[in-house]
Amino acid sequence: MAVLNLLLTGLVLASQCLSVPVQDSPRQRLLDGKPLPAKYRKSAGAPPYTPGHRDPYDGAVDSVGRDVDPLPWRNGDGASVLGPWNKERAKQSPDLVRPPSTDHGAMKNMRWSFVDSHIRIEEGGWTRQTTIRELPSSVELAGVNMRLDEGVIRELHWHKEAEWAYVLEGEVRVTAIDYEGGNFIDDLKKGDLWYFPSGVPHSLQGLGENGTEFLLIFDDGNFSEESTFLLTDWLAHTPKSVISKNFHLAPEVFAHVPKSEKYIFQGTKPGPIDEERPSGKHVKKSKYQFTHKMLDQEPKRTTGGEVRITDSKNFPISKTVAAAHVVIEPGALREMHWHPNADEWSFFIRGRARITVFAAEGNARTFNYLPGDVGVVPKNMGHFVENIGDEPLEMLEVFRADEFRDFSLFQWLSETPKKLVVDHLFADDKEAAEKFWDGVKDGDKDEVTLPPKDLGDGSGEELGEL
Ligand SMILES: *[C@@H]1O[C@H](CO)[C@@H](O)[C@H](O)[C@H]1NC(C)=O
Ligand SMILES: *[C@@H]1O[C@H](CO)[C@@H](O)[C@H](O)[C@H]1NC(C)=O
Repeated sequence: MAVLNLLLTGLVLASQCLSVPVQDSPRQRLLDGKPLPAKYRKSAGAPPYTPGHRDPYDGAVDSVGRDVDPLPWRNGDGASVLGPWNKERAKQSPDLVRPPSTDHGAMKNMRWSFVDSHIRIEEGGWTRQTTIRELPSSVELAGVNMRLDEGVIRELHWHKEAEWAYVLEGEVRVTAIDYEGGNFIDDLKKGDLWYFPSGVPHSLQGLGENGTEFLLIFDDGNFSEESTFLLTDWLAHTPKSVISKNFHLAPEVFAHVPKSEKYIFQGTKPGPIDEERPSGKHVKKSKYQFTHKMLDQEPKRTTGGEVRITDSKNFPISKTVAAAHVVIEPGALREMHWHPNADEWSFFIRGRARITVFAAEGNARTFNYLPGDVGVVPKNMGHFVENIGDEPLEMLEVFRADEFRDFSLFQWLSETPKKLVVDHLFADDKEAAEKFWDGVKDGDKDEVTLPPKDLGDGSGEELGEL
């Protein structure tokens, strides 16, 4: 019995020694492919952004939602801040203040917030833009955020870039004529789109009690909302004698046309479309459909959210802009993927996100996004969108392309021979290889994917507060 006790004690001692050798850091265990001890799997210990905090999995911290101030501490490295520090900015970009340990290399900036764009204030409305000048990565597309109160008009105009738009709130009337002289008028609500090809003249007017606000996308990052062709500007710079000849009327008729552009101005509240449609002898309705009800589309429901894709397949006129409207539920991930045919220009409508952009050659950088922010992911660069908040994340992915295209990492690996995948990723770990293949082999594209709740890692929350 005594011998047995001694043996047991020895075993316990030996196992204790084994379980806590000096080298047995959580990071080392991860590198060795061993499970982490329970204490590292529970919310306990030092809060994030303190010297004692440990997170070998680089989980996300919702610094805005939890109202914590990010500081440059990571797994014991780093130091406090002594100099000037813009706390609000730091809170909005926790993954720049403390980048995941997987980030590396020099990368262009891929985030801009519309709140940093200059606002042009006009009668009854305003406009601001995010172009290559605000965000140098915004090469393929430029965005404009515009607000028009009830009855307020964005004046009749045209431009060389095609214009795509998404109605963010309220109601708006659009008018246009097509290349064959056909007349087009439509009333749109939240979640509706319009697309005007290059050069098509059009106007916009806020309807309803509070008018409208929308996001405009132009298929050139160098676009400027200041350099469109306006009806009033043209007439103000054409000799009255010529205007007179053009319209077969005496020059006096034009004595009071505006002397400079109107751009955005308070107009007269319009009646229903049928009352307002011009009725001249030669007016004909357009054969083209310049508008589309994107949010009314039946979404693809994925395990973690919803996706609606609108491109030239279901909105034929939209030949140069394709888009996806994506809802990512709390805890879910827009899965790891890339777009082969165009840069992604993302606009965040609701929620809080982080994206790591993988740029090859070992380069990767992580950015955070809030409502009203713009992101860019250059074509072919791998990325995900993680909902790091406690409400659904709603965003638009917009592309200068006729078709939406993406490659899913999950789908790619599930359709690749097992041995090939194992040789790449699990050559030294047969057990993990089996686990991985069992989990992946029947996988399909799942654009917004919801991981099981009990992963115990990677979800960030559990490990976020080691
Ligand atoms: C218009 O805005 C006011 C003030 O924000 C709000 O109370 C009202 O509900 C809005 N009306 C509509 C139709 O959205
Ligand atoms: C953008 O436009 C400006 C002014 O016209 C021009 O100087 C610049 O080269 C353009 N940049 C790109 C990337 O096209």
